[in-house]
Amino acid sequence: MSVQYTPVIWNRNKIFYDAVLLIAVALYLYVFIRVGPSYEDVSKPIDGAILRMRAFGSCAFLMLTVILCIGPLARLDRRFLPLLYNRRHFGVMTAGIAAVHANYVLTWYFNFSPTDRYVALLSSNTSYGQLLGFPFETLGIVALLILFVLAATSHDFWLSFLGAPIWKALHMSIYVAYACVVLHVALGALQGPADPIFTSVVAASVVLVSGLHFATGRMEARRERGERTAQASLEQQGWVVAGDLDEIDDDCAKVVTLAEDERVAIFKYDGKLSAITNACAHQNGPLGEGKVLWGCITCPWHGYQYNLADGRAPAPFTEKISTYRLQLIGSTILLDPNALPPGTHVDPVEIGDAA
Ligand code: HEM
Ligand code: FES
Repeated sequence: MSVQYTPVIWNRNKIFYDAVLLIAVALYLYVFIRVGPSYEDVSKPIDGAILRMRAFGSCAFLMLTVILCIGPLARLDRRFLPLLYNRRHFGVMTAGIAAVHANYVLTWYFNFSPTDRYVALLSSNTSYGQLLGFPFETLGIVALLILFVLAATSHDFWLSFLGAPIWKALHMSIYVAYACVVLHVALGALQGPADPIFTSVVAASVVLVSGLHFATGRMEARRERGERTAQASLEQQGWVVAGDLDEIDDDCAKVVTLAEDERVAIFKYDGKLSAITNACAHQNGPLGEGKVLWGCITCPWHGYQYNLADGRAPAPFTEKISTYRLQLIGSTILLDPNALPPGTHVDPVEIGDAA
């Protein structure tokens, strides 16, 4: 089966997110380029091209810092989730800003070289063996290449084409890009005359990015320990592991066999989970293969319908089937194998409330 390209679908949230981002970037560049020079040492004025190179370089660095903080922040506190919403556009914009920075470097630093500027960029300093005077530009090139690859593959088409595991692994290289940028700055700009503000910004970025990832890692380890304990206690009470949330597509069911003649259909619908017997009250039709509509399942054989929350046919019909209790621990679905009397209401498990 081939993967089809569908253009990015815009909606109000995405437009608002991008508009805020663009305004913030424009404001930062304006302040850096227009307002900043009035505070500089007048005895050492900075050339406009260098100022713009610095403005775009530091802007891309700050954007990369924010991008890397959004993931852990959203995991630590759900209120940050909206920031995650359009992070891919953030990444593409960062690659663009970094490219403008690199372009200023090429059109200024290497423009007066008799050799081609691209050749000059790669050959003017090859002292890779030493720390002081290290060709830090190469680290910038590696970072920029990674940002380009990530921007080019950010569309959902690439996610479907490459598959989630490969796409995710590829996009983890954003951390390599960040490490390269930190080294690019540490071995480049920070080796020059001391600038306490810029040095503090770079240090704060590294502390923030690593600190947030460390805190998230600890929180998740704690949560996983809690989940393992909760699961073990339910299993001791006779509950069975029915599978993982990811195994069930929306509006579909997973059928679990408890005994040769006892199958349970676990449905995922409207952000909830419910379990009913797989056998229709009419002629044992396989309910797990039926269609879900408005919280009701329609049997694929002759069309009997049942409410997923209580196993009752909608009025005026009176058929009832067994329901089962479920719990969601992390993404693991646990099932109480004791069937409840036909027609018993069980509150559906809200997927967002998973422990
Ligand atoms: C082709 C790729 C790149 C090249 C050739 C390049 C080159 C340079 C050069 C020559 C400097 C000046 C250093 C100094 O004044 O001592 C610089 C500074 C800097 N670069 Fe890059 N760079 C590249 C990519 C990047 C990327 C991808 C980022 C960030 C995402 C970045 C962020 C910075 C920052 C923050 C500075 C310091 C600016 C300042 O002095 O305030 N660079 N870069
Ligand atoms: S078996 Fe389900 S409607 Fe007939």
